[in-house]
This record gives sequence, C-alpha cells and structure tokens, in this order.
Amino acid sequence: MPLVTSTEMFKKAYEGGYAIGAFNVNNMEIIQGITEAAKEENAPLILQVSAGARKYAKHVYLMKLIEAALEDTGLPICVHLDHGDGFDVCKSCIDGGFTSVMIDGSHHSYEDNVKVTKQVVEYAHAHGVVVEGELGRLAGIEDAVNVSAEDASYTNPDQVEDFVGRTGVDSLAIAIGTSHGAYKFKPGQTPRLRFDILEEVERRLPGFPIVLHGASSVIPEFVQMINANGGKMPDAIGIPEDMLRQAAKSAVCKINIDSDLRLAMTASVRKHFNEHPDHFDPRQYLSPARENIKGLVKRKLVNVLGSNGKA
Ligand code: G3H
Ligand code: 13P
Ligand code: ZN
Repeated sequence: MPLVTSTEMFKKAYEGGYAIGAFNVNNMEIIQGITEAAKEENAPLILQVSAGARKYAKHVYLMKLIEAALEDTGLPICVHLDHGDGFDVCKSCIDGGFTSVMIDGSHHSYEDNVKVTKQVVEYAHAHGVVVEGELGRLAGIEDAVNVSAEDASYTNPDQVEDFVGRTGVDSLAIAIGTSHGAYKFKPGQTPRLRFDILEEVERRLPGFPIVLHGASSVIPEFVQMINANGGKMPDAIGIPEDMLRQAAKSAVCKINIDSDLRLAMTASVRKHFNEHPDHFDPRQYLSPARENIKGLVKRKLVNVLGSNGKA
C-alpha cells in the first residue's frame, strides 16, 4: 500500500468516535517502535516530521525509513509535516513526497494566517496533498521557541467558519488548553480543557476534522524512571488520558504526541545505563528504548485514541 493522505482516516475516525495518533518521528528506533505497535493493534497512523526532525535526520532518511515501515507493516500511513512555519518548507515537503502538511500561521495576524494558509492549500491540493491549519495559540515549546502562557490564546469559535471557508484547509488545529512539551501544568494545578470551545467549533463546522496538539500525558512512570536513574526533571502534569479519550470521541480526529515518546526513550536509556554502566554498544540501550516506545504507543492506541482495530 502506498502512503495515504489523512482524508479517509479522518472521515472514518469522525464517524467512529475515535482519533488517529499523530506521532513525531526523528530516527529509526522511534519509527519502528511506533509502527510495530500499530501493526500489532491494527491501527492507522500519522507519522509526523517537524522542521527540527528534518534538520536532525534529513528528509530523505526519514522518508526512506517511513517507506520501509509501510512495506513492513502494510498499514495505512500518512506522512505529515508538523508545524510548517511558511510556504517554502511546506512546498519542500510536498515536493519530497509527504501526503499532508501543517501550515502553522497561528503566530501571524488573522489576515496573514489566512493568506499564507490559502497559498499552501492551493499548492498542496494541486499535488494531491492535504493541509492542516491552526487558529489560536498553544503555550509551550515547539521548535525551540517557547510560547509563554500569557502569549497563548484559546481559539475563537467566531473565526473558524471564515478561516476554513477562505483557506480551504482540510483540518484545523485548535487551542483549548493543551500545550507543547513536558511541563504543561505545575504540581497542584488541575488540568482543564475548554470542551465548551471544542463543542462550539464542532457546532459551527459539522463533520470537519479537528486536531489537538500538545496532547502528551507526561506519563508519571517515565518521569519517575528518569529521576530514579540520575535525571533531574521537575514534577509536571500532562493532559489526563480520560480527557483525551473524551476529545477523541468528538470532532477531534488527530491527536499529536511527541513528549511522551521522548520521555519513554530517555527513561529506558537512563535505566539501562544505570544498570549496565559498562555497556557501550548502542543496540544494547536502543533496543529497550524502542520496546518502551512500542508499549507506550499501544497504550495510546487502545486507551486514548481508540484507533486499534481500525486500519
Ligand atoms: O510541537 C512540536 C513537536 O514536539 C516537535 O518538536 O520541533 O523539537 O522536533 P521539535
Ligand atoms: P506534546 O509536546 O504534548 O507531545 O505535543 C506534540 C505536538 O503537538 C506536536 O505537534
Ligand atoms: Zn504541535
């Protein structure tokens, strides 16, 4: 099966009350951990690549690894640019074989966001590629840019019909209280998502796929494992899994997860070195890291996304 766009995936997810996992990939072990989990759970997948990932691993290496995963698993897989910050990077990914791109114009004025998003949609659709836009601004760290909580803003439901109508985007990322990175809520804070905004967006855009970024749960076992093995991560609280499950049953068709993958990998590597300080063969510490990612992704597919058995 060739790479697919997310069109069919989102249609089924919307109707079926589940969401597709969009997992960030940066190297072979991460791609294998995710895709082996999806194969065992028979789940459709979005593998997403940030500008930072392209810089780290190079476009062609990631593309070839994803093609290998496609051949190995036979699953429907969509390859997506995460947080494209302008037309050029979107065009480069479309020309380089991605089936989906995100143009993140959320840092621009509303009119400039419409303008750049429309430009990307015209090019992408002419090449059979789908586009995710964003309205509202999440807090947290993305591509080394830290958006403070004060600069973050919830999506304004009054803008969504105009934005989707004028740009022609295929899906829309909205800000309802999730945030990027491993420090979403401080200890003592109660995580809260604005389901009222999500419901209003859903009412204004019936049948239209919505995307949630910043949806890692910051799994406490991994933070504890990191700190029990020489790490120094402050305690943090992520997005509770039951809230994400609730979102997945609504118009939310794509849920983005990166930080939990990073924590899973780092926790395993730290534990391994603590237990085997004499090891120096990368396969010795990357094998358990890949297994830990696989276990995490299976848990997400079944408990959070509900996309198991839907490939
Ligand atoms: O939202 C951002 C993703 O976690 C990707 O992070 O730009 O550091 O690769 P990155
Ligand atoms: P997390 O940092 O919560 O994993 O969010 C990832 C994300 O939104 C990628 O676009
Ligand atoms: Zn994001």
